[in-house]
Amino acid sequence: MSSVDAKLSPARDGGKPSIIERYRRYLPVTEKTCIISLQEGDTPLIRARNLERYLGSLKGTLSSPEVYLKYEGANPTGSFKDRGMTMAITKAVEEGTTGVICASTGNTSASAAAYAARASIPCFVVIPQGKIAMGKLAQAVMHGARVIAVRGNFDQALTIVREAAERLGLTLVNSLNPYRIDGQMSVAWEVVDALGAAPEFHFLPVGNAGNITAHWRGYNAYRSAGKIQARPRLMGFQAAGSAPIVLGHRVEDPQTIATAIRIGNPASWQSAVAARDESGGIIDKVTDDQIVEAYRLIASLEGVFAEPASAASVAGLIQTWLCGEPKLEGRIVCTLTGHGLKDPERAIASAVVPTEVDADFAAVAREIENRER
Ligand code: F0G
Repeated sequence: MSSVDAKLSPARDGGKPSIIERYRRYLPVTEKTCIISLQEGDTPLIRARNLERYLGSLKGTLSSPEVYLKYEGANPTGSFKDRGMTMAITKAVEEGTTGVICASTGNTSASAAAYAARASIPCFVVIPQGKIAMGKLAQAVMHGARVIAVRGNFDQALTIVREAAERLGLTLVNSLNPYRIDGQMSVAWEVVDALGAAPEFHFLPVGNAGNITAHWRGYNAYRSAGKIQARPRLMGFQAAGSAPIVLGHRVEDPQTIATAIRIGNPASWQSAVAARDESGGIIDKVTDDQIVEAYRLIASLEGVFAEPASAASVAGLIQTWLCGEPKLEGRIVCTLTGHGLKDPERAIASAVVPTEVDADFAAVAREIENRER
């Protein structure tokens, strides 16, 4: 047995089944495939009744659509990337890779580093210098990836790693790798399995556009398998300063506080547009202020801590609800792509700072009484 064989089946080892085991029939694996897994997937789908009431209050009505949060921050490395990475690394190992490489705004690198560590293969990650959240960098270095920070943005990093993969014989594990999309389809399957049908609308952030592509392919695969008839309208949201798909042209110097989606030339641009059009959905933009507002609302109203980029989905929901077009009805799912703890600096900057007092009961009690007033 190789070192990889010993780790191949979480279910057999007493853990929860990996997404590859659960959805084996929809994925390009065989009985012989050694699965590299951290027990990803099976993330919470949380009914957001407080958020529903909030939406109602914005329009002075008690009625609002049913809203669910698909909390991808509950994956092993804290983002949806693990769904694709278990497939990409599993197949890379199966195909005898010598090492993997990716460009990343942070989450892909954290996930690639973790799964590569588990598979005992080298991992190289290229990130935009100074523009990734601290938690994500911490993960990549702790999992032993070789981290290279380029003085440039994500789009430049992606161009470089594509060439590096080609010329240096490494496996590219960005979402250009089709196995990444295969694994990420599982989010749609889990939503349908939980709700018993597809939702009417599915909101999500859009960066490099692999995930909206995967959501759509996932719903389509379930339709082909006869599991659903209707599919949701996909509602994708980019940050206003990084909104190439909305603008219809590349953005040379993308900007947004939501660093995960600070992307000016998405790799899966065409398939995102196809997903939008075929589903009858939209791809629109939300400002950083809207993102921060939604980020705080999700945490304070629902107890769900998601990173800023994730909040673009809920910011998009609020925007769409207020403008009334398209009319929102039925069940709505918002994918929250990553965990809030990835970016603690942004959280502290966005919240009320702690009050500092002397270490005695009276001082603390005074503060509590002040707050209650
Ligand atoms: N949300 C988060 C938290 C992300 O990390 C990303 C992408 C997205 C949304 C957008 O997904 O690219 O499939 O449209 N992060 C990539 C990375 C680019 O390198 O971690 P997408």
